[in-house]
Amino acid sequence: MSTLPRITAERLADPAAASSLAVELAKSGGVGRAVDNDRLFYFGSWERVSAAFADPGLVREHPDRPVPDHPSGRRPSPGLIELDQTWPVFRDPPAHGPLRQALASALFGLPTGDMARIIDDRIGELAKTLRSQDVFDGARDLSPQVPAAAMVALTGFRADAARAVEALVLSMLDRGTPQSAFVAARVALVDALSGALADGIGDGLLSRLRRLMPDAPLPQVLSLTVFVLTTGHGGVRDAISAALWLAATGADQGGLGAAVRSGQSLETAFHETLRLCPPLRMVDRWVAADRSIGRVPLRRGDRVYLLIGAACRDPARFAAPDRFDATRVPARGLGFGSGAHACLGQALAPVLWSSVLRQMLRGDRSVVPNGAAQWSTRSDDGGLESLPLRWA
Ligand code: HEM
Repeated sequence: MSTLPRITAERLADPAAASSLAVELAKSGGVGRAVDNDRLFYFGSWERVSAAFADPGLVREHPDRPVPDHPSGRRPSPGLIELDQTWPVFRDPPAHGPLRQALASALFGLPTGDMARIIDDRIGELAKTLRSQDVFDGARDLSPQVPAAAMVALTGFRADAARAVEALVLSMLDRGTPQSAFVAARVALVDALSGALADGIGDGLLSRLRRLMPDAPLPQVLSLTVFVLTTGHGGVRDAISAALWLAATGADQGGLGAAVRSGQSLETAFHETLRLCPPLRMVDRWVAADRSIGRVPLRRGDRVYLLIGAACRDPARFAAPDRFDATRVPARGLGFGSGAHACLGQALAPVLWSSVLRQMLRGDRSVVPNGAAQWSTRSDDGGLESLPLRWA
Protein backbone atom coordinates (compact mmCIF):
# COMPACT_ATOMS: atom_id res chain seq x y z
CA MET A 1 0.00 0.00 0.00
CA SER A 2 2.76 2.45 0.92
CA THR A 3 4.31 1.77 -2.49
CA LEU A 4 1.29 3.02 -4.41
CA PRO A 5 2.35 5.80 -6.79
CA ARG A 6 1.33 9.29 -5.66
CA ILE A 7 -0.42 11.17 -8.45
CA THR A 8 -0.30 14.95 -8.74
CA ALA A 9 -3.11 17.14 -10.09
CA GLU A 10 -0.73 18.52 -12.76
CA ARG A 11 -0.12 15.05 -14.11
CA LEU A 12 -3.83 14.28 -14.20
CA ALA A 13 -4.48 17.46 -16.18
CA ASP A 14 -1.89 16.65 -18.86
CA PRO A 15 -3.38 14.52 -21.69
CA ALA A 16 0.12 13.77 -23.01
CA ALA A 17 0.88 12.03 -19.69
CA ALA A 18 -2.16 9.75 -19.86
CA SER A 19 -0.51 6.71 -21.44
CA SER A 20 2.54 6.83 -19.15
CA LEU A 21 0.17 7.16 -16.20
CA ALA A 22 -1.69 4.01 -17.29
CA VAL A 23 1.61 2.13 -17.61
CA GLU A 24 2.86 3.28 -14.20
CA LEU A 25 -0.44 2.52 -12.45
CA ALA A 26 -0.68 -0.92 -14.08
CA LYS A 27 2.44 -1.91 -12.09
CA SER A 28 0.50 -1.40 -8.84
CA GLY A 29 -2.66 -3.20 -9.98
CA GLY A 30 -4.01 -0.08 -11.71
CA VAL A 31 -4.25 1.89 -8.43
CA GLY A 32 -2.52 5.09 -7.31
CA ARG A 33 -3.06 7.54 -4.48
CA ALA A 34 -3.43 11.30 -4.10
CA VAL A 35 -0.36 13.23 -2.98
CA ASP A 36 -2.06 14.83 0.00
CA ASN A 37 -4.91 12.49 0.92
CA ASP A 38 -4.46 8.86 1.99
CA ARG A 39 -8.15 8.05 1.51
CA LEU A 40 -8.34 9.25 -2.08
CA PHE A 41 -7.39 6.74 -4.78
CA TYR A 42 -6.94 6.87 -8.55
CA PHE A 43 -7.76 3.88 -10.74
CA GLY A 44 -5.96 4.24 -14.04
CA SER A 45 -5.38 1.11 -16.15
CA TRP A 46 -7.94 -0.13 -18.71
CA GLU A 47 -8.56 -3.28 -16.73
CA ARG A 48 -8.99 -1.55 -13.37
CA VAL A 49 -11.21 1.27 -14.66
CA SER A 50 -13.44 -1.14 -16.64
CA ALA A 51 -13.82 -3.35 -13.57
CA ALA A 52 -14.58 -0.34 -11.37
CA PHE A 53 -17.42 0.83 -13.67
CA ALA A 54 -18.99 -2.63 -13.31
CA ASP A 55 -18.46 -2.84 -9.53
CA PRO A 56 -21.67 -2.41 -7.47
CA GLY A 57 -19.53 -1.71 -4.38
CA LEU A 58 -18.37 1.61 -5.88
CA VAL A 59 -21.25 4.06 -5.84
CA ARG A 60 -22.08 7.57 -7.02
CA GLU A 61 -22.99 9.05 -3.66
CA HIS A 62 -21.21 9.05 -0.32
CA PRO A 63 -22.65 6.06 1.59
CA ASP A 64 -23.27 8.07 4.78
CA ARG A 65 -24.22 11.54 3.60
CA PRO A 66 -27.79 12.42 2.63
CA VAL A 67 -28.32 13.06 -1.06
CA PRO A 68 -30.11 16.25 -2.09
CA ASP A 69 -33.41 15.54 -3.79
CA HIS A 70 -33.07 16.23 -7.45
CA PRO A 71 -33.68 14.12 -10.55
CA SER A 72 -29.96 13.61 -11.01
CA GLY A 73 -29.72 12.64 -7.35
CA ARG A 74 -26.84 15.08 -7.09
CA ARG A 75 -27.22 18.83 -7.28
CA PRO A 76 -30.37 20.66 -6.28
CA SER A 77 -31.21 22.97 -9.14
CA PRO A 78 -33.17 26.14 -8.37
CA GLY A 79 -36.24 26.61 -10.50
CA LEU A 80 -36.67 22.95 -11.25
CA ILE A 81 -40.27 21.97 -10.74
CA GLU A 82 -41.02 19.83 -7.73
CA LEU A 83 -40.22 16.16 -7.89
CA ASP A 84 -41.81 13.37 -5.96
CA GLN A 85 -38.90 12.61 -3.67
CA THR A 86 -39.51 8.89 -3.62
CA TRP A 87 -38.34 8.58 -7.22
CA PRO A 88 -34.56 8.57 -7.20
CA VAL A 89 -33.20 8.39 -10.74
CA PHE A 90 -29.46 8.03 -10.67
CA ARG A 91 -28.74 7.05 -7.12
CA ASP A 92 -27.12 3.82 -6.00
CA PRO A 93 -28.98 1.61 -5.48
CA PRO A 94 -31.00 1.05 -7.55
CA ALA A 95 -29.11 2.51 -10.47
CA HIS A 96 -31.29 0.50 -12.82
CA GLY A 97 -34.54 1.75 -11.36
CA PRO A 98 -37.66 2.33 -13.44
CA LEU A 99 -36.94 5.98 -14.19
CA ARG A 100 -33.50 5.32 -15.60
CA GLN A 101 -34.93 2.47 -17.66
CA ALA A 102 -37.62 4.75 -19.07
CA LEU A 103 -35.07 7.44 -19.90
CA ALA A 104 -32.79 4.90 -21.54
CA SER A 105 -35.65 3.48 -23.63
CA ALA A 106 -36.79 6.95 -24.64
CA LEU A 107 -33.31 8.15 -25.57
CA PHE A 108 -31.77 5.11 -27.17
CA GLY A 109 -34.38 5.02 -29.93
CA LEU A 110 -33.53 8.62 -30.82
CA PRO A 111 -33.14 10.33 -33.10
CA THR A 112 -35.60 8.82 -35.53
CA GLY A 113 -35.36 9.56 -39.27
CA ASP A 114 -37.26 12.86 -39.12
CA MET A 115 -35.33 14.04 -36.09
CA ALA A 116 -32.01 13.22 -37.75
CA ARG A 117 -33.07 15.25 -40.80
CA ILE A 118 -33.98 18.22 -38.59
CA ILE A 119 -30.63 17.98 -36.82
CA ASP A 120 -28.83 17.89 -40.18
CA ASP A 121 -30.77 20.93 -41.45
CA ARG A 122 -30.10 23.00 -38.35
CA ILE A 123 -26.42 22.08 -38.29
CA GLY A 124 -26.27 22.80 -42.02
CA GLU A 125 -27.34 26.39 -41.27
CA LEU A 126 -24.68 26.68 -38.57
CA ALA A 127 -21.97 25.26 -40.87
CA LYS A 128 -23.03 27.70 -43.62
CA THR A 129 -22.60 30.61 -41.22
CA LEU A 130 -19.19 29.42 -40.04
CA ARG A 131 -18.12 28.81 -43.63
CA SER A 132 -19.05 32.37 -44.55
CA GLN A 133 -16.69 33.76 -41.86
CA ASP A 134 -12.94 33.96 -42.54
CA VAL A 135 -12.14 33.02 -38.97
CA PHE A 136 -14.13 31.44 -36.17
CA ASP A 137 -13.68 29.80 -32.79
CA GLY A 138 -14.16 26.04 -33.09
CA ALA A 139 -15.03 25.72 -29.41
CA ARG A 140 -17.05 28.83 -28.53
CA ASP A 141 -18.95 29.26 -31.81
CA LEU A 142 -20.29 25.74 -31.67
CA SER A 143 -22.03 26.11 -28.38
CA PRO A 144 -24.95 26.05 -27.83
CA GLN A 145 -26.08 25.85 -31.46
CA VAL A 146 -25.27 22.18 -31.90
CA PRO A 147 -27.12 20.92 -28.82
CA ALA A 148 -29.96 23.26 -29.74
CA ALA A 149 -30.22 21.47 -33.08
CA ALA A 150 -30.83 18.21 -31.26
CA MET A 151 -33.24 19.78 -28.86
CA VAL A 152 -35.44 21.10 -31.66
CA ALA A 153 -35.87 17.50 -32.70
CA LEU A 154 -36.22 16.11 -29.19
CA THR A 155 -38.94 18.58 -28.25
CA GLY A 156 -41.13 17.07 -30.97
CA PHE A 157 -40.33 19.72 -33.62
CA ARG A 158 -42.31 22.33 -31.71
CA ALA A 159 -40.78 25.73 -32.34
CA ASP A 160 -41.70 27.40 -29.03
CA ALA A 161 -40.27 24.48 -27.03
CA ALA A 162 -37.12 24.56 -29.14
CA ARG A 163 -36.71 28.31 -28.57
CA ALA A 164 -37.30 27.83 -24.85
CA VAL A 165 -34.74 25.06 -24.53
CA GLU A 166 -32.22 27.06 -26.54
CA ALA A 167 -32.70 30.05 -24.21
CA LEU A 168 -32.30 27.82 -21.18
CA VAL A 169 -29.11 26.21 -22.49
CA LEU A 170 -27.71 29.68 -23.24
CA SER A 171 -28.51 30.85 -19.74
CA MET A 172 -26.84 27.76 -18.29
CA LEU A 173 -23.68 28.24 -20.31
CA ASP A 174 -23.39 31.92 -19.43
CA ARG A 175 -21.93 32.29 -15.95
CA GLY A 176 -23.24 35.86 -15.73
CA THR A 177 -26.92 34.87 -15.98
CA PRO A 178 -28.81 36.11 -12.90
CA GLN A 179 -30.60 33.39 -10.98
CA SER A 180 -34.00 34.97 -11.67
CA ALA A 181 -33.44 34.84 -15.45
CA PHE A 182 -32.33 31.23 -15.19
CA VAL A 183 -35.42 30.25 -13.23
CA ALA A 184 -37.63 32.16 -15.71
CA ALA A 185 -36.00 30.29 -18.60
CA ARG A 186 -36.76 26.98 -16.90
CA VAL A 187 -40.37 27.92 -16.24
CA ALA A 188 -40.79 29.01 -19.90
CA LEU A 189 -39.51 25.63 -21.05
CA VAL A 190 -41.84 23.74 -18.74
CA ASP A 191 -44.77 25.84 -20.08
CA ALA A 192 -43.82 25.16 -23.69
CA LEU A 193 -43.44 21.44 -23.03
CA SER A 194 -46.78 21.28 -21.22
CA GLY A 195 -48.34 22.96 -24.23
CA ALA A 196 -46.71 20.42 -26.54
CA LEU A 197 -48.04 17.57 -24.46
CA ALA A 198 -51.54 19.02 -24.28
CA ASP A 199 -51.57 19.40 -28.09
CA GLY A 200 -50.29 15.85 -28.53
CA ILE A 201 -47.70 17.17 -30.95
CA GLY A 202 -44.83 15.16 -32.40
CA ASP A 203 -42.82 12.20 -31.25
CA GLY A 204 -40.49 14.02 -28.91
CA LEU A 205 -38.74 12.93 -25.77
CA LEU A 206 -41.56 14.13 -23.55
CA SER A 207 -44.30 12.20 -25.36
CA ARG A 208 -42.10 9.11 -25.36
CA LEU A 209 -41.48 9.37 -21.63
CA ARG A 210 -45.17 9.94 -21.04
CA ARG A 211 -46.02 6.74 -22.90
CA LEU A 212 -43.32 4.80 -21.05
CA MET A 213 -44.41 6.12 -17.65
CA PRO A 214 -48.21 6.39 -17.89
CA ASP A 215 -48.69 6.27 -14.11
CA ALA A 216 -46.05 8.84 -13.17
CA PRO A 217 -47.22 12.30 -12.07
CA LEU A 218 -46.86 14.81 -14.91
CA PRO A 219 -44.47 17.12 -12.99
CA GLN A 220 -42.03 14.24 -12.73
CA VAL A 221 -42.15 13.48 -16.41
CA LEU A 222 -41.71 17.16 -17.24
CA SER A 223 -38.90 17.50 -14.77
CA LEU A 224 -37.05 14.53 -16.19
CA THR A 225 -37.51 15.84 -19.71
CA VAL A 226 -36.10 19.25 -18.77
CA PHE A 227 -33.18 17.57 -17.07
CA VAL A 228 -32.30 15.45 -20.10
CA LEU A 229 -32.82 18.31 -22.56
CA THR A 230 -30.30 20.40 -20.67
CA THR A 231 -27.62 17.82 -19.95
CA GLY A 232 -24.62 16.53 -21.92
CA HIS A 233 -24.18 19.66 -24.05
CA GLY A 234 -20.64 20.33 -22.84
CA GLY A 235 -19.59 16.80 -23.80
CA VAL A 236 -21.01 17.12 -27.31
CA ARG A 237 -19.35 20.51 -27.84
CA ASP A 238 -16.01 19.20 -26.54
CA ALA A 239 -16.09 16.08 -28.73
CA ILE A 240 -16.77 18.26 -31.79
CA SER A 241 -14.11 20.85 -31.01
CA ALA A 242 -11.58 18.08 -30.26
CA ALA A 243 -12.24 16.63 -33.72
CA LEU A 244 -11.80 20.04 -35.36
CA TRP A 245 -8.54 20.47 -33.45
CA LEU A 246 -7.31 17.04 -34.57
CA ALA A 247 -8.22 17.83 -38.20
CA ALA A 248 -6.83 21.39 -38.18
CA THR A 249 -3.49 20.46 -36.62
CA GLY A 250 -3.07 17.24 -38.61
CA ALA A 251 -2.90 15.24 -35.36
CA ASP A 252 -5.50 12.93 -36.94
CA GLN A 253 -3.01 12.01 -39.73
CA GLY A 254 -5.71 13.15 -42.17
CA GLY A 255 -7.98 10.37 -40.87
CA LEU A 256 -11.03 12.51 -40.12
CA GLY A 257 -11.16 14.19 -43.53
CA ALA A 258 -10.64 10.80 -45.19
CA ALA A 259 -13.44 9.28 -43.11
CA VAL A 260 -15.80 12.12 -44.14
CA ARG A 261 -14.83 11.84 -47.83
CA SER A 262 -15.35 8.06 -47.77
CA GLY A 263 -19.09 8.68 -47.21
CA GLN A 264 -19.08 5.76 -44.77
CA SER A 265 -20.29 5.81 -41.18
CA LEU A 266 -18.16 8.03 -38.93
CA GLU A 267 -18.80 5.88 -35.88
CA THR A 268 -15.24 4.54 -35.52
CA ALA A 269 -13.76 8.01 -36.08
CA PHE A 270 -16.12 9.37 -33.41
CA HIS A 271 -15.06 6.78 -30.85
CA GLU A 272 -11.40 7.30 -31.70
CA THR A 273 -11.80 11.04 -31.07
CA LEU A 274 -13.51 10.32 -27.75
CA ARG A 275 -10.76 7.85 -26.83
CA LEU A 276 -7.95 10.29 -27.52
CA CYS A 277 -9.71 13.40 -26.15
CA PRO A 278 -12.42 12.29 -23.69
CA PRO A 279 -14.51 15.31 -22.62
CA LEU A 280 -14.83 13.80 -19.14
CA ARG A 281 -11.35 12.66 -18.19
CA MET A 282 -12.33 11.21 -14.84
CA VAL A 283 -15.42 10.47 -12.75
CA ASP A 284 -15.66 9.82 -9.03
CA ARG A 285 -17.10 7.04 -6.94
CA TRP A 286 -17.37 6.27 -3.23
CA VAL A 287 -16.54 2.95 -1.58
CA ALA A 288 -19.77 1.52 -0.12
CA ALA A 289 -18.21 -1.23 2.07
CA ASP A 290 -14.72 -2.18 3.27
CA ARG A 291 -12.94 -4.34 0.69
CA SER A 292 -9.67 -5.04 -1.11
CA ILE A 293 -9.00 -4.14 -4.70
CA GLY A 294 -5.87 -5.91 -5.84
CA ARG A 295 -3.84 -5.78 -2.64
CA VAL A 296 -5.15 -2.33 -1.73
CA PRO A 297 -7.48 -2.19 1.30
CA LEU A 298 -10.30 0.30 0.81
CA ARG A 299 -12.63 1.52 3.56
CA ARG A 300 -16.28 2.55 3.38
CA GLY A 301 -16.35 6.26 2.55
CA ASP A 302 -13.02 6.27 0.67
CA ARG A 303 -13.11 8.23 -2.55
CA VAL A 304 -12.03 6.73 -5.85
CA TYR A 305 -11.44 8.51 -9.16
CA LEU A 306 -11.74 6.46 -12.34
CA LEU A 307 -9.24 7.90 -14.81
CA ILE A 308 -11.05 7.58 -18.12
CA GLY A 309 -8.27 9.50 -19.91
CA ALA A 310 -5.53 7.12 -18.74
CA ALA A 311 -7.60 3.97 -19.37
CA CYS A 312 -8.33 5.17 -22.91
CA ARG A 313 -4.59 5.41 -23.59
CA ASP A 314 -3.53 2.21 -21.87
CA PRO A 315 -1.07 0.46 -24.23
CA ALA A 316 -2.20 -2.88 -22.79
CA ARG A 317 -5.54 -2.23 -24.55
CA PHE A 318 -4.69 0.12 -27.46
CA ALA A 319 -1.60 -0.24 -29.69
CA ALA A 320 0.23 3.10 -30.19
CA PRO A 321 -2.30 4.72 -27.84
CA ASP A 322 -1.22 8.34 -28.44
CA ARG A 323 -1.83 8.09 -32.19
CA PHE A 324 -5.19 8.85 -33.83
CA ASP A 325 -6.32 5.94 -35.98
CA ALA A 326 -9.76 6.35 -37.59
CA THR A 327 -9.89 2.61 -38.34
CA ARG A 328 -8.76 1.39 -34.93
CA VAL A 329 -9.86 -1.99 -33.55
CA PRO A 330 -10.99 -2.18 -30.77
CA ALA A 331 -12.73 1.10 -31.52
CA ARG A 332 -14.37 2.01 -28.26
CA GLY A 333 -12.80 3.59 -25.21
CA LEU A 334 -14.56 4.53 -21.98
CA GLY A 335 -15.51 8.09 -22.90
CA PHE A 336 -19.19 7.43 -22.11
CA GLY A 337 -18.40 5.55 -18.92
CA SER A 338 -19.84 2.07 -18.58
CA GLY A 339 -22.05 -0.03 -16.33
CA ALA A 340 -24.90 1.21 -14.15
CA HIS A 341 -24.37 4.91 -14.93
CA ALA A 342 -23.22 4.69 -18.54
CA CYS A 343 -24.11 7.79 -20.54
CA LEU A 344 -27.73 7.95 -21.68
CA GLY A 345 -26.88 10.31 -24.54
CA GLN A 346 -24.49 7.93 -26.27
CA ALA A 347 -26.78 7.23 -29.21
CA LEU A 348 -27.52 10.92 -29.74
CA ALA A 349 -24.02 12.42 -29.33
CA PRO A 350 -22.45 10.66 -32.38
CA VAL A 351 -25.36 11.78 -34.59
CA LEU A 352 -24.66 15.42 -33.72
CA TRP A 353 -20.90 14.99 -34.00
CA SER A 354 -21.13 13.27 -37.38
CA SER A 355 -23.47 15.90 -38.75
CA VAL A 356 -21.06 18.72 -37.82
CA LEU A 357 -18.00 16.90 -39.12
CA ARG A 358 -19.66 16.04 -42.45
CA GLN A 359 -20.62 19.65 -43.00
CA MET A 360 -17.42 21.27 -41.73
CA LEU A 361 -14.82 18.91 -43.24
CA ARG A 362 -16.26 18.73 -46.76
CA GLY A 363 -13.60 18.64 -49.47
CA ASP A 364 -13.62 22.19 -50.88
CA ARG A 365 -11.90 24.01 -47.99
CA SER A 366 -10.11 22.86 -44.88
CA VAL A 367 -9.83 24.25 -41.37
CA VAL A 368 -6.40 25.31 -40.13
CA PRO A 369 -5.26 26.88 -36.82
CA ASN A 370 -5.48 30.66 -36.51
CA GLY A 371 -3.68 30.87 -33.16
CA ALA A 372 -3.01 28.65 -30.19
CA ALA A 373 -5.77 26.38 -28.92
CA GLN A 374 -6.56 26.68 -25.23
CA TRP A 375 -7.31 23.38 -23.50
CA SER A 376 -8.98 23.25 -20.12
CA THR A 377 -6.42 22.97 -17.33
CA ARG A 378 -8.79 21.05 -15.05
CA SER A 379 -7.97 17.42 -14.39
CA ASP A 380 -11.54 16.24 -14.92
CA ASP A 381 -12.33 18.31 -18.01
CA GLY A 382 -10.76 17.36 -21.33
CA GLY A 383 -12.45 20.14 -23.34
CA LEU A 384 -11.16 23.10 -25.34
CA GLU A 385 -11.76 26.57 -23.93
CA SER A 386 -10.94 28.19 -27.23
CA LEU A 387 -9.95 26.97 -30.71
CA PRO A 388 -9.12 29.81 -33.15
CA LEU A 389 -9.54 28.49 -36.70
CA ARG A 390 -9.59 29.86 -40.26
CA TRP A 391 -10.44 28.41 -43.64
CA ALA A 392 -7.67 27.51 -46.10
C1 HEM B 1 -19.84 13.30 -26.38
C2 HEM B 1 -20.77 13.66 -25.49
C3 HEM B 1 -20.92 13.05 -24.13
C4 HEM B 1 -19.97 12.48 -23.31
C5 HEM B 1 -18.47 12.34 -23.56
C6 HEM B 1 -20.66 12.02 -22.12
C7 HEM B 1 -20.04 11.36 -21.07
C8 HEM B 1 -20.71 10.79 -19.99
C9 HEM B 1 -20.10 9.99 -18.95
C10 HEM B 1 -18.61 9.63 -18.86
C11 HEM B 1 -21.08 9.61 -18.08
C12 HEM B 1 -20.91 8.69 -16.86
C13 HEM B 1 -20.70 9.46 -15.59
C14 HEM B 1 -20.38 8.53 -14.43
O1 HEM B 1 -20.14 7.33 -14.62
O2 HEM B 1 -20.36 9.01 -13.28
C15 HEM B 1 -22.32 10.20 -18.56
C16 HEM B 1 -23.55 10.07 -17.93
C17 HEM B 1 -24.72 10.63 -18.40
N1 HEM B 1 -24.92 11.27 -19.60
FE1 HEM B 1 -23.49 11.72 -20.96
N2 HEM B 1 -22.00 12.31 -22.24
C18 HEM B 1 -22.21 12.93 -23.46
C19 HEM B 1 -23.42 13.38 -23.98
C20 HEM B 1 -24.64 13.26 -23.35
C21 HEM B 1 -25.91 13.73 -23.89
C22 HEM B 1 -26.09 14.41 -25.25
C23 HEM B 1 -26.87 13.44 -22.96
C24 HEM B 1 -28.38 13.69 -22.99
C25 HEM B 1 -29.11 13.65 -24.06
C26 HEM B 1 -26.21 12.78 -21.84
C27 HEM B 1 -26.85 12.33 -20.73
C28 HEM B 1 -26.24 11.65 -19.68
C29 HEM B 1 -26.94 11.23 -18.48
C30 HEM B 1 -28.42 11.46 -18.18
C31 HEM B 1 -25.99 10.58 -17.67
C32 HEM B 1 -26.21 10.00 -16.27
C33 HEM B 1 -26.46 8.51 -16.36
C34 HEM B 1 -26.59 7.89 -14.95
O3 HEM B 1 -26.10 8.45 -14.00
O4 HEM B 1 -27.17 6.82 -14.84
N3 HEM B 1 -24.87 12.68 -22.11
N4 HEM B 1 -22.07 10.90 -19.73
